[in-house]
Amino acid sequence: MSDIIVQNSGALSGEVEISGSKNSSLPILAACILTGGKNIISNIPDLSDIKIMYSLLAGLGAKIDRHNEETVIDCERIVSCTTPYELVGKMRGSFLLAGPLLARMGRARISLPGGCPIGTRPVDLHLKGFAAMGTEIERGHGYVDMTAKRLKGAKIYLDFPSVGATENIIMAAVLAEGETIIENAAAEPEIVDLSDFLNKQGAKIEGSGSDTIKICGVEELRGTVHRVIPDRIEAGTFMTAFAMTRGSGIIKKADYEHIKPVAAKLEEMGVKISAGCDGSIKVDARKSLKSADIKTLPFPGFPTDMQAPFTVLLSTVEGTGIIIETVFENRFLHIGELNRMGADIRIDGRASVIEGARQLSGTSVNAFDLRGGAALVLAGMVAKGDTEITGVEHIRRGYENFMPKLQKIGARIDLK
Ligand code: EPZ
Repeated sequence: MSDIIVQNSGALSGEVEISGSKNSSLPILAACILTGGKNIISNIPDLSDIKIMYSLLAGLGAKIDRHNEETVIDCERIVSCTTPYELVGKMRGSFLLAGPLLARMGRARISLPGGCPIGTRPVDLHLKGFAAMGTEIERGHGYVDMTAKRLKGAKIYLDFPSVGATENIIMAAVLAEGETIIENAAAEPEIVDLSDFLNKQGAKIEGSGSDTIKICGVEELRGTVHRVIPDRIEAGTFMTAFAMTRGSGIIKKADYEHIKPVAAKLEEMGVKISAGCDGSIKVDARKSLKSADIKTLPFPGFPTDMQAPFTVLLSTVEGTGIIIETVFENRFLHIGELNRMGADIRIDGRASVIEGARQLSGTSVNAFDLRGGAALVLAGMVAKGDTEITGVEHIRRGYENFMPKLQKIGARIDLK
């Protein structure tokens, strides 16, 4: 039973509004545990991953009220420090509750998230940071049990600029005794958004957005009001959709600075892009495009979350493109499905070699993960014939109203 059927859609055109960032909303929601007061957050997207985070927070004792555009989170009473496997297993971002629980309660018992389709996704760097700050860590029965009477500031060097580890250590450090310095920190926009939120609560964080972040611990934080940044990966996905169909359109409510690495690559391929000062980005691909090579890297490099959509784009343009995936060890699951649609892509370790100018043809395919699933929808829009896609629940984890937004700009999608 297919979830959706996608048909050849021709050139997309029109306007699409970008929702709030999933990957900024998740750490910001977890950070609400740090205050005994109310936090009012707007622009949180309506996604299944966000719903899981709401359930986890409620299970810990938080009160969550959602009014249209705003979510009010009241963490006055935190009654538990344990997160259950059945929820953590569904959403890896759950591990972001560890830092705030340790800082607020001195204890966190988090189910180990386990692997996921794109890789083993270890949390060793998170634990390295917590241990450096004085946390006792025990593993057993699929859980990580962490206790720390009072976290102490420390100097922590991350072996890899892990987004989650940087976020978790920041959230642990804001109430710690003394100063914490994170070196080789992640610099993604989501780190800056989290730090802005925490500083509004009274935290003292400097350097977010660079590779060295300094946090001076404070006694307590108070609730605040915050609007989550736009989702840069959603913006990049729609820019790629316009490019792939040789269409033209306007992305609204985006932040061009956050998606610059993708815009720069599209321009290199021949797409015309212009950013307005009102958060709009014009994309015009009504011409022939040429191939390009890509290496995924931590921000401000080309984002790994855009690797799958770009794989489809490179299949449709003249020339041979090479993509090297340096961030995750198994993020090519969509390639087998694309080759079944007539793409000609070879995998060689961390590299994929994409022969261009292939006319894809519709068939039945399965989405294995969030970004790979989105890529298959885009592929169906340029393929000849119908493409039946199963596993669409993966897409609904990370793209708010993805199909209706695509239909509005001309995609032909039958929601089963
Ligand atoms: C965040 O995941 C995002 N998720 C991912 O988006 C994104 O792809 C990733 O950052 C990279 O930008 C959220 O923000 C919820 P990492 P995260 O820690 O924090 C290794 C999507 O599609 N690593 O930067 O888990 C890890 O194995 C998702 O929206 C360790 O070795 O990413 C990976 O190879 C997918 N030890 C690399 O670092 C650790 O302790 C990057 O992971 C932590 C990570």
